[in-house]
Amino acid sequence: MKPIINIISFLLIGTACTGQQDKNLKLCNVDSKYANKVDSVLKLMTLEEKIGQLNQYTGNAQATGPEVIDNTKHEQIKSGRVGSMLNVIGAATTREIQSFALQSRLGIPLLFGQDVIHGYRTVYPIPLGEAASFDLDLMERTARGAAIEASSEGIHWTFAPMVDITRDARWGRVMEGAGEDTWYGTKVGIARIKGFQGNDLADSNTILACAKHFAAYGACIAGKDYNTVDISDMTLHEVYLPPFKAAAQAGVATFMNSFNDINGIPATAHTGIQRDMLKGMWDFNGFTVSDWGSIREMVDHGYAADLKESANQAIIAGSDMDMESRAYVSHLRELVESGEVPITYVDDAVRRILLKKFQLGLFDDPYKYCNEENEKETVLSQPLRYLARESGKKSIVLLRNENKALPLKDDVKRIAVIGALADSKQDMLGFWASEGIAEEAVTLLQGLKNRYPDAKIDYVEGYDLNTNQLTSSAQARKIALAADVVILAVGERANESGEAKSLADININANQQQLVNDLKPYSKRLVTVIMGGRPMIFNELTGASDAILLTWWLGTEAGNAMADVISGDYNPSGKLPMTFPRHIGQIPIYYNYKSTGRPESKYSSYSCRYLDVDFEPAYCFGFGKSYTEFEISEPRVIGNNHSFDKPVEIEVTVKNTGIYKGKETVQLYIRDKVASVTRPIKEFKGFQQVELLPCEEKTVRFILQKEDFYFYNKDLDFISEPGEFDIMVGKSATELNPVTIYISESERN
Ligand code: NOJ
Repeated sequence: MKPIINIISFLLIGTACTGQQDKNLKLCNVDSKYANKVDSVLKLMTLEEKIGQLNQYTGNAQATGPEVIDNTKHEQIKSGRVGSMLNVIGAATTREIQSFALQSRLGIPLLFGQDVIHGYRTVYPIPLGEAASFDLDLMERTARGAAIEASSEGIHWTFAPMVDITRDARWGRVMEGAGEDTWYGTKVGIARIKGFQGNDLADSNTILACAKHFAAYGACIAGKDYNTVDISDMTLHEVYLPPFKAAAQAGVATFMNSFNDINGIPATAHTGIQRDMLKGMWDFNGFTVSDWGSIREMVDHGYAADLKESANQAIIAGSDMDMESRAYVSHLRELVESGEVPITYVDDAVRRILLKKFQLGLFDDPYKYCNEENEKETVLSQPLRYLARESGKKSIVLLRNENKALPLKDDVKRIAVIGALADSKQDMLGFWASEGIAEEAVTLLQGLKNRYPDAKIDYVEGYDLNTNQLTSSAQARKIALAADVVILAVGERANESGEAKSLADININANQQQLVNDLKPYSKRLVTVIMGGRPMIFNELTGASDAILLTWWLGTEAGNAMADVISGDYNPSGKLPMTFPRHIGQIPIYYNYKSTGRPESKYSSYSCRYLDVDFEPAYCFGFGKSYTEFEISEPRVIGNNHSFDKPVEIEVTVKNTGIYKGKETVQLYIRDKVASVTRPIKEFKGFQQVELLPCEEKTVRFILQKEDFYFYNKDLDFISEPGEFDIMVGKSATELNPVTIYISESERN
């Protein structure tokens, strides 16, 4: 503890940071509670120690990028040359590694970061799946749960949420975000940040969140991971940046930049985006971390001649912490000493990082997250498993239910479960499942056994998980024939979506689809359960399936959550956060495209046709069925004379006309009919979930504020323009009732 005592005594001296000032540099505005402390520490630091704070290495728990073998890391930590580690897990291990940092001259504690993407040891649905719940409170609670669990294992910082918007299902990382819509993605991002960070970073179970990947990673050309982004300013501002801006406003602690270049400039060296926008215009006082090796990768981009040049570019552009490039630790010293990099840049980066360490309380107690007792009680605790089951069932989307094939009654006698995914624990967790352990996951098969203890449940693999070759076909037919219902699991394995997992063909494997068709004649009722981490295409199996449930990858409690929905214990309420194409050539396909000069029809069709394939998606944004039926009335606008001075209020009546209790997500979209730049044919601007008993009805009211009508004009000013707007309310992006209103600038107009 000696070094810590040193720091604390020096902190009391407390002076403001001085040093060379660059007039154009907007410095971190350290909140007054910590300013003296941060600056006191900074003042004590040698250049070498400052650079150490900007350096992050991976531990041995797992490699989440191309690793450099280095056996000197512990020694470097002891000499103050490392500020943060990722991929170090467990209270005991983080305690041990933290003790190395405390042996350094100033004893500045390390930050332990980790990709806590959808849970930690208790795994929740993948983020795209959970976004289908349209339940922001739930998403906040699972992020909270993940923070509680991760923090009990020594983790201070998650590299989540990913708030990248994407319109390309080929991109493997769609699984990590909230889908295609900017407005919704923004809300989801904020909910997750709140969940991770809680009310106070000083609590011992809150962790730093990280808005990533800044910026426009989801716009990679052709959905190829790490690929070039070539984008108009208007689209960048309107589609890709808002979730990041909102994250900064919501107080997210950190940002991670992205691998891609944006219009010719790698994001890691993008001064305009990081330095001017994020830290300047948006007043972001947290710190930025590079993506894994992204500083080094600027050499491969052909943007820097060598690692030294990329270090120079990155620090000037505002990349504060270097994850696994070794660029700062190798070259920043000479860059500062030669005057190429003003020390102010380094100091600012260090202050930002120290501030977070202070806010987490690590200077008071560097081991506060390393409590093995707490770890034991917290990890995989019952409340977290309940939460996993709740989030699992709420994420499932019912895509088809012919002749009321579902729900499956309690008295079902014989069930045939077919498809290797139905019994694959690893594939329940999905990609990037952090510390999730496959053995702890409940499969679909197990979930059904738990739910239907009196039924005879036969299982046949049907296809080989690795090769997709059909297997045991005769046996599959036999058990199908004998069963009251066939439940057939198909889709992606957990390693088929995620980082570096782009696909040129997102069709579900042809053999799997064939299996559904093969079994159709032998099945009294055939329910297809689709698992996966992205929008997939499955036209070939649709007609043969009486019901289709899209379950994504649901995590630890996957099987129980699926059984909850199959049995009707939970009436499915999920809605698609991304359009599901009908054909690969339709990509990018999304609901909020713009009208061309030759639109098809007013509200429902796509504005340009293909000769060879349909132009409509298989399933649109916002789509999802229920076991019950809902009727939504025409929208009623409250009052007349609308102006941007006051909120616009719209009401609809929602009625449950079916026979089950259920939940509808009532969705509101607007269309700005004429503007100074062309506007999308619809923009998602609101939703409300309403739970109704059979025959029950409720009034749902939406309140639209002026900002809901804002857009970026040709000068990139964020403005509203008076005129006519369609307001559309309904069940999905294509099942809407419209009303048109005129909105003037102010009441006086
Ligand atoms: C690379 C990924 O792009 C990023 O999202 C992740 O946080 C880092 N690796 C660390 O694992």
